[in-house]
Amino acid sequence: MSRRVGVGLSVALIERFRDRLPVTERTPIVSLGEGSTPLLRAPRLGERLGLDLWLKWEASNPTASYKDRGMTVAVSKALEDGATAVVCASTGNTSASAAAYAARAGLRAIVLVAESAARGKLIQARALGAHVLAVRGSFDEALTAAKKLGERGDHVLVNSLNPNRVEGQKTAVFEIVEELGAPPDAFVLPYGGGGNTTAYAKALSELELATPVYSIEAADRRTTLASAIQIEQPAHRDRVGASGARVHAVPDEEIVSAWLELARDEGLFCEPSSAAGLAFLRGSDELRGARVVVTITGNGLKDPGAADSHAPAPVAVDPDPDAIARATA
Ligand code: F0G
Repeated sequence: MSRRVGVGLSVALIERFRDRLPVTERTPIVSLGEGSTPLLRAPRLGERLGLDLWLKWEASNPTASYKDRGMTVAVSKALEDGATAVVCASTGNTSASAAAYAARAGLRAIVLVAESAARGKLIQARALGAHVLAVRGSFDEALTAAKKLGERGDHVLVNSLNPNRVEGQKTAVFEIVEELGAPPDAFVLPYGGGGNTTAYAKALSELELATPVYSIEAADRRTTLASAIQIEQPAHRDRVGASGARVHAVPDEEIVSAWLELARDEGLFCEPSSAAGLAFLRGSDELRGARVVVTITGNGLKDPGAADSHAPAPVAVDPDPDAIARATA
């Protein structure tokens, strides 16, 4: 297991896992204090699902999604290699993360956001000074354009096709195994492009573990309300297949139910995509009784529109104790 460096949340991920990442003494470390995220036991939800359930709360990363784990490595390496600009295509979280780490590094960020990108993510990238371009087209089309721009040599592609992203993201597994003191019986996470599944599989292979990874995709990838995973052509489909990950699909209704349940039972407000894993567990007996770690990938504030449509509206009330008591009886 990795040596622990400090106990605070502000330890740079690259410092904590330096010996297992493609960095050298010469690599400038671009960090915002990513990684070392909470691993929370979920007793109420776990009991309902018949599981020893643990949640890896990746929303506590600096830009509020797991993307920061890979971005610290990708942007540090881009800076080391003399880049002046990074480019990515994104359903929103990658762009927010790229914008933040590029700003931290003093690099230009060009982000191509898909039409489906949630509002909070767009606002993040804009506020962080990226060139935010709303592509007239799907995520897949935006990614093709970003790749071509990267091939021209002036911009480093920081999508998860950049191997440094996968390297950084694999550290979530190291943290979980270290904190539990042993591998869980299964990892469960959402499956959009498959970069994170690829990263988890790589970590497990480096640890020489055969723990199963359950990758949960939206039943309708083209239209799902889980906008972060609204991706028709997963860039890592072949690698996900080769990794042996167990791919399952969940309908939107199940995602919404799991998402609201997580918030109400355990106090974690995530974005809908992040609840895909829990949606699978609600509908399957396969892992009954097992110790399961579900990765909750992004914060609910990223997608205020989704919450607005599905969480109860506030009730108007006079500033009067009787009226308040009546309204909440
Ligand atoms: N959860 C969230 C919150 C995401 O933002 C993503 C992907 C996933 C899960 C799926 O992970 O693609 O590694 O299989 N977001 C990308 C983006 C596509 O552009 O931000 P994956």
